[in-house]
Amino acid sequence: MCGIIGYVGDKEIVPLLLKGLQCLEYRGYDSAGIAIHEGHHLNVIKTIGKIAKLEEVLKIKKATNGTNGHSNCGIGHTRWATHGEPSNINAHPHFDTEEKIAVVHNGIIRNYQEVKDKLINLGIKFVTQTDTEVIVQLISENLKKTKSILDAILKAVKELEGSYAIAILFKDEPDKIYAVRKEAPLVIGIGNDENFVASDIPTLSQFVDKVIRLNDNEITVVAKNAVEFYDLNGGRIKKEPQIVTKTKDILDKKGFKHYLAKEINEQAEVISNLLKDFLPNPEKPVQLNHLKLEPDFIKSIDRILILACGTAYHAGLTAKYVIENLTSIPTEVQFASEFLSANSLLTKRSLVIGISQSGETADTITAIKKAVLTGATLLGITNRADSALADLAKEHLILSKAGVEISVAATKTFTAQIAVLYLFAVYTAEILGTADKTSLIKIKQELRELPQLIDQALVRAERYQEQVIKYADKPDFVFIGRGINYPIALEAALKLKELSYIHASGYASGEMKHGPIAVLDPNVPVVSIVVSGETYERVIQNSLEAKSRKAPMIAVAIDGDKKAESIFDTVLHIPQVSEIISPFLTVIPLQFLAYYIAEELGRDIDQPRNLAKSVTVE
Ligand code: F6R
Repeated sequence: MCGIIGYVGDKEIVPLLLKGLQCLEYRGYDSAGIAIHEGHHLNVIKTIGKIAKLEEVLKIKKATNGTNGHSNCGIGHTRWATHGEPSNINAHPHFDTEEKIAVVHNGIIRNYQEVKDKLINLGIKFVTQTDTEVIVQLISENLKKTKSILDAILKAVKELEGSYAIAILFKDEPDKIYAVRKEAPLVIGIGNDENFVASDIPTLSQFVDKVIRLNDNEITVVAKNAVEFYDLNGGRIKKEPQIVTKTKDILDKKGFKHYLAKEINEQAEVISNLLKDFLPNPEKPVQLNHLKLEPDFIKSIDRILILACGTAYHAGLTAKYVIENLTSIPTEVQFASEFLSANSLLTKRSLVIGISQSGETADTITAIKKAVLTGATLLGITNRADSALADLAKEHLILSKAGVEISVAATKTFTAQIAVLYLFAVYTAEILGTADKTSLIKIKQELRELPQLIDQALVRAERYQEQVIKYADKPDFVFIGRGINYPIALEAALKLKELSYIHASGYASGEMKHGPIAVLDPNVPVVSIVVSGETYERVIQNSLEAKSRKAPMIAVAIDGDKKAESIFDTVLHIPQVSEIISPFLTVIPLQFLAYYIAEELGRDIDQPRNLAKSVTVE
């Protein structure tokens, strides 16, 4: 939520800040702005809307001499509104009253009202509805009592409660960015005669190959040729840079119309890469030995609790079937936001699995921190090695290695998460000896075949498009599945809602008759996941009940399923696959269904309204 970029150096600053903001736009895109040192003043240019709008505004300003863009130092921000609606005024950067300080902020100041009231009593006038303005006004107020900028910031952050990554420009320090963080990411990029500040490493890796991660309660002063670090008492800290791979342009859509389409199409490659690392040979055990989980601990696990949100939660629900099936360890999956440690039944013998693509989701991080207080062991699964979850789960971490996912809706990271969870289930079963060798080898062989099967589904994209766009005018969709494909029904409904804004619900198909069937009529398509196996006949039965209510009927079914063809109006075929492995394939036509319907409706595919990719507020 909210992206921050900062630059000190000799390059042309405006294009550079804009490029950084484009890389960070996934974090929020309701408004954006920059502040640069220009001559003897700070110039703030900001607007409601996306980075493209900011670019237009900057062009107009340049043409009308509103900014000459000559500057060696600046900060930028892309916003996901928390306090105060998206508007020009609430867009960051924010000024203090005297326009001597400009601040950009990611996070939430929980005690902002209290601080604001105090400052109002001192006669300070606030112009925005944001919590961020209290930061800049507080620093400004502190500066009246001390000459040291560092002291003024330190004093302010000690008074602020909440989470923040903040970058600050001071009119009187033309070549420096001050930055501080607590529970929100901020990284410094180290270049030659130039340095950067940003919310994430992939953005910095567009510019530099050395980074230094700021830790909680650390403050940095970034100049062109020097970066200093301090603790909250003003003591100097020494920090060493880490090398990152300078990535090719992460904004390249590789010929696809949308990042979402590109990312859906990358799924075979992502799974293939994971298998190369973790399952090079199906005859041999899964290679997750980097986890420092002792076999004795694994043998003693009394329960597994999976904590996650949104799509990652659906990955957890899918994994529950596989983990319980292969290891017999009781596995519970909870929305991280619903986790109550008092009711958790966790013990020192329990394993908590935290799943988060971004590794930053506040609900997930908070729940995990509470869960580990019980003495339970944490296993983290994330796509981001530079995240809070990766830090928390240092000892037992599996990276899902899906590459940067730019589109806000998760697709390739979902399949990567379930791949990692399947591998973990097999790994655990191999240690426990809870599943017979032949069935484990069969699952491993099937996993190895997945990239090919996924490819076979992906090449059907156009056919799926033809089949689904006729349903784009429907106001409501119901997705049903049973067993291991019930979470896929949930995921499909979430994807359709996010991308098309059409209301959709996912149900366990047996539950339809217990109430939801009342919503069915010829305007509410029912999408059934009917995969050969244990659940097949019963999903068919539940689908027939829906058909009798004249709902338009769509199925995801295996190639050659004549029965499905005779029942459903539209069948989205997938290649032959076993039931246990099927979620990797059933999800694909459903991702395309959401994509093509949203496209048909002219939606903003990669940046749906109201969303942000990284939800760092509870
Ligand atoms: C769905 C989506 C969200 C995220 C959720 C958790 O397409 O993107 O539901 O899955 O916000 O995010 P992470 O996995 O980053 O914790």
